[in-house]
Amino acid sequence: MKVSIKDNLSKKMLLWYDKNKRDLPWRKSKKDLNPYQTWISEIMLQQTTVEAVIPYFHKFTAKWPTIKKLSESNIEEIMDAWSGLGYYSRAKNIHKAAKIITKEYNDQIPNNYDELIKLPGIGPYTAGAILTIAYDKKASVIDSNIERIILRIQGIKKPKDKVKKELIKISEELCPDIRSGDYVQAMMDLGSAICKPNNPKCNLCPIKKFCYSYKNNLTNLIPIKKTRKPIKIRKARLFWIVSNQNRIFLRRRPLTGLLPGMLEFPSSDWIIKSKESKKEILFPIKGNWKPITGNVMHTFSHFQLSLKIYICRDVNEKKLEGIWKKENDIPNLHLPSLMKKVYKHVFSNTNN
Ligand code: ADE
Repeated sequence: MKVSIKDNLSKKMLLWYDKNKRDLPWRKSKKDLNPYQTWISEIMLQQTTVEAVIPYFHKFTAKWPTIKKLSESNIEEIMDAWSGLGYYSRAKNIHKAAKIITKEYNDQIPNNYDELIKLPGIGPYTAGAILTIAYDKKASVIDSNIERIILRIQGIKKPKDKVKKELIKISEELCPDIRSGDYVQAMMDLGSAICKPNNPKCNLCPIKKFCYSYKNNLTNLIPIKKTRKPIKIRKARLFWIVSNQNRIFLRRRPLTGLLPGMLEFPSSDWIIKSKESKKEILFPIKGNWKPITGNVMHTFSHFQLSLKIYICRDVNEKKLEGIWKKENDIPNLHLPSLMKKVYKHVFSNTNN
């Protein structure tokens, strides 16, 4: 890439950012930069929207204001604070990484790529984001917004998976030596407000004069669209158990697998639809089980789950080992989104 394009593009981006940047809680002036907050925000922002992250970021950093405090917490507390945000392995990795940073790096997040990339949950994207945003170092940073902008500017008509190395090289070349964190976040904001996947607002774009796709009317074709594989559906039965003291039964999931360490209402195995067993239902306890109208659907990253809920009342609490909660307390528990959908469905389809 020509030097003039590279320099002028980042200059235009920084000017645009100074006027248009989003006011986000993890964005600090240079003197207040806090690598811990950059790390937490960047992990939360992987796979989750800015709007959804903001309240979680506030709560998390208020509860654990430093890496040291975080490293002293227990994993259940962290999972509870993460409940509803999804992709729970991120929370497990944050806990592991906090312990390593405390022990091996004297509570300081490393400021070089080779050490960052070794930490649990930190891949090339997060390492680059921390280096640029927290330490103002030049690095390659590619999230979905930045990727789309580069593909359009360069007019790359190949599928993005086929040009990964090229994208890394271009993103590092475009990154300026100073204000690299602002530049990277300017690109993110541009991607979210202007260079959108559909109907980009090119007339408002500060860097359209560098954009091959804009000049050649290709913005609706680049990035080229992939055909999506149909998503698998799994089915299961969920058991809503009410005790003779009118409390509801929950248990904690294992720390491995999906929704690790989160609270749940018990269910059968989540089985792929085509292999669904037509066998008798294995209820967790004997009783007068009744189905509840309708199903609860929830989409995970690689499958969709359809739950049929069965309810049983008047159960003796001693017969099941787990957690019993009053119905009124359930909305205040730290539950994953799937389980929130479940109780809402039960509450609106029974006269509980
Ligand atoms: N997405 C990922 N990181 C971000 C950041 N720092 N600002 C806005 N959106 C983001």
